[in-house]
Amino acid sequence: MRVLVIGSGGREHALCWALAASPLLAKLWCAPGNAGTAEFAENLPIGALDFSSLVQFAVENAVDLVLPGPEAPLVAGIADAMGAAGIACCGPSAAAARIEGSKSFTKEICDAAGIPTALWERFDDAHAAREFVRRRGAPIVVKADGLAAGKGVVVATSVAEAEEAIAAFMDRDALGEAGRSVVIEECLEGEEVSLFALCDGVTALPLGAAQDHKRVGEGDTGPNTGGMGAYSPPPALSPALAEAAMARIVRPALAELARQGTPFRGILFAGLMMTADGPKLIEFNARFGDPECQAVLLRLQSDLLPALLAACNGDLAQFSLRWRDEVAIAVVMAARGYPGDPVKGTGIRGLECAAAMPGVTVFQAATQRLNGRLVAAGGRVLTVCATGPDLQAARDAAYQAVAAIDWPEGFCRRDIGWRALGAG
Ligand code: AMP
Ligand code: GLY
Repeated sequence: MRVLVIGSGGREHALCWALAASPLLAKLWCAPGNAGTAEFAENLPIGALDFSSLVQFAVENAVDLVLPGPEAPLVAGIADAMGAAGIACCGPSAAAARIEGSKSFTKEICDAAGIPTALWERFDDAHAAREFVRRRGAPIVVKADGLAAGKGVVVATSVAEAEEAIAAFMDRDALGEAGRSVVIEECLEGEEVSLFALCDGVTALPLGAAQDHKRVGEGDTGPNTGGMGAYSPPPALSPALAEAAMARIVRPALAELARQGTPFRGILFAGLMMTADGPKLIEFNARFGDPECQAVLLRLQSDLLPALLAACNGDLAQFSLRWRDEVAIAVVMAARGYPGDPVKGTGIRGLECAAAMPGVTVFQAATQRLNGRLVAAGGRVLTVCATGPDLQAARDAAYQAVAAIDWPEGFCRRDIGWRALGAG
């Protein structure tokens, strides 16, 4: 099999790492990739949104499978572009990826399929949105309807804060088109869990779960990020609750998408709130989470590649996956300044030493090699991962590996796993 992974983050490094272990793999490319993916794949100097170059490359090089990592190419239609050229792509069409690209689309799917989620309403008019917020009171959640790279959600603890979010999104166009309409919803309480399912349009196969840490600061404080760390499996999602979430949330959504003529193929990410009334849907994403993917894949015992092919071919009903009986943790190291303006170009040393520690795997995200030197080239730069018999052991191993990395301009949260272990 000749496989092309699209993207350049820690998630894509982990996907390349997992695919490289497959006996079915003949050749692996990553576009554009990073210094870590270069260990397993040939990096291509093609951007994730340069569809004409990606399709041309896939056709000319007889690529058997394309695996897009991030949402942007999916929402923009990479699966449609590859499909039109006869190339298999393990990702949803643009129409099905609206489940990530539009909050109101997702909410309509939930209502049509009876999926438990926060009560909601959509507004195109800022005045009506403000009225609604005043009537409902706080806490309340204001969301830009479109894709906003994690900056489009405000969980407001006061009416004033909610009104400020409406003003920023709708009056001041802070997010451009994405914020011209908003979804306002009930604030749910509980622990958040990310549940993944590999889908072939009809069948959904559980693909692990993890708990993410979205805020930059310890104790889940400070601005939102793409994710500062994760662990899998999450104790908050027992096997029984995971099955309940598959039955009440994931499978009904898949069935509704198929009924609407936009079947979902690829990795469906259900962001769940574990409320006192059971799991409720916060959001769907059309892809793996980052850094959840890194933690989940470390536990996957089965070969990932045939599962992805089965998803493309509609064969998942015959499929099952095996998992290691271990806990995995992922600690993100980011460049100082993230999630604002990260310092770039600083040197990183000691990765080999960290990666040689028992149970440790280091995935790279925004890294580059310049004259043989590894340098940071963005916000989230490394995902330092470890597995162990329990979360404490995995966490200890991961932080020992962090200590072995010599990168003064990098930082990480010291409390990944705190909800399960305590801040220790
Ligand atoms: P989203 O982009 O929809 O995942 O929202 C980003 C974050 O905002 C989520 O991970 C939650 O922490 C929080 N959030 C979103 N919707 C709600 C809600 N209805 N109630 C409470 N928190 C929410
Ligand atoms: N870590 C959350 C996400 O990938 O959206």
